Amino acid sequence: ELKDASYRLNYHFMAPVGWLNDPNGLIQHNGIYHLFYQFNPYSFHWGPMHWGHATSTDLVHWNHEPVALAPSEAYEYDETKSEMGCFSGSAVMNGDVMTLFYTGHLEGKENKEVQAIATSTDGIHFTKHPANPVISESPEGLSNEFRDPKVWKHGKFWYMVVGTAIDKDGAIVLYKSSNLTEWEYVGIAAKSDGTQGDMWECPDLFPLGNKYVLITSPMNMDNGKSTVMTGSMDYEKGIFTPESQREIDYGIDFYAAQTFEDEKGRRILISWMDFPFTEFPSKADKWSGAMTIPRELTLGEDGFVRSHPVQELNTLRDIHKHYDKLMLSKDDTYNLNSNVYFKHSYELKCKWTLPEIEKGGKVGLRLRQSKDGSEQTNVFYDSATNEIIVDTTNAGELSHKAVNKAPLRTKNNEIALHVFVDTCSVEVFVNDGEATLSTRIYPDLASNGIELYTEEMEAMVEYTDIWSLKNTGI
Ligand code: FRU
Repeated sequence: ELKDASYRLNYHFMAPVGWLNDPNGLIQHNGIYHLFYQFNPYSFHWGPMHWGHATSTDLVHWNHEPVALAPSEAYEYDETKSEMGCFSGSAVMNGDVMTLFYTGHLEGKENKEVQAIATSTDGIHFTKHPANPVISESPEGLSNEFRDPKVWKHGKFWYMVVGTAIDKDGAIVLYKSSNLTEWEYVGIAAKSDGTQGDMWECPDLFPLGNKYVLITSPMNMDNGKSTVMTGSMDYEKGIFTPESQREIDYGIDFYAAQTFEDEKGRRILISWMDFPFTEFPSKADKWSGAMTIPRELTLGEDGFVRSHPVQELNTLRDIHKHYDKLMLSKDDTYNLNSNVYFKHSYELKCKWTLPEIEKGGKVGLRLRQSKDGSEQTNVFYDSATNEIIVDTTNAGELSHKAVNKAPLRTKNNEIALHVFVDTCSVEVFVNDGEATLSTRIYPDLASNGIELYTEEMEAMVEYTDIWSLKNTGI
């Protein structure tokens, strides 16, 4: 049964109650995927941060587990302070011991942020380590905004990157350890060139193909908030050298992404599918926050990162409708939701060929459209600018109105769109994962029209497939 009486999502991860933000501690062990997350169980607003926890065998169906971390120690808890808690971090397996790394945060006159660890032998119950905090201050001369440790193993050593700032430029610092409790400061591994944000949250540095990839969530950056750089890592010098930069996702509702390598060797990414500084209309129903669908990252032949929906999502497919070739003339519309009726929980794939691409014009989809057409979310390609655009200007009164734009790197006359729609979200994958755009929308739950359309150009839709997607019971 689909949920359709409220904005609770059908196949996106949400907390059982309260507030959720960043994914934390993503890891797979003995076949079980673990998703921890920033969680306030007491309120639908951000507040004292706990680590919520869920497990899964397929990345799609999740079971809620007991809260893994709650603020309790002097480095993360003070009842006189409103801002405190166990902030974001990561997980590793050290033999049979699962170790979580997190930031102890106390907001006083000045932020105080330290790095701490907690361990578990059953993957469910965690004990904070007596050696905490394992890193008790930021390196000299750097900001005391110092958070979100990401740990991994390379050769004989453990490495950790932590997000921070140098003179108001976002940066990551690198640490090294042989035992996970004693950490040696290596140095500044990467920093902003002055235009890339004034503090880097949630850094993630990992190998992909023959490159290294750095993902950060930069604060106060004009034109981006999920930077991905590909480049190379020199472990001797402790320096990551970027070769290219873009956004890992071009939608407004994508922040604090984290990746991990699963037991099949895939690099999987999950992100918070919200942005801290927008409205959260679901607060009216006393909850906030959801995760994106899990995505597999690959390195394209052009050296850029590509994102693909994980293949396990196919198990959610239910009713299917296939359309063969459709020729749309100039300023044409084709209704896709007339025979089989799809609600607001579906996956859609279509591929366009544009014979007149040089002329300029638009082709795309109107989604979540009301009967009178006044409400709609537009996903389209603009051949004049070579951008994929998700326009939520008319997506409903409660929606965050934005024109989200993803520039394509090459221009050719084929555009493939792969779209996931849920009660209050749209995620778009373009041309085999060259770009993605994730946004939250809050249209009327009965606005379910789906149309293909052209503006100022004719085009061929080679195929269209739509599958309704099942409720995962979250
Ligand atoms: C990112 C972030 C992190 C921090 C956490 C606190 O959204 O600000 O930097 O650890 O959220 O909840």
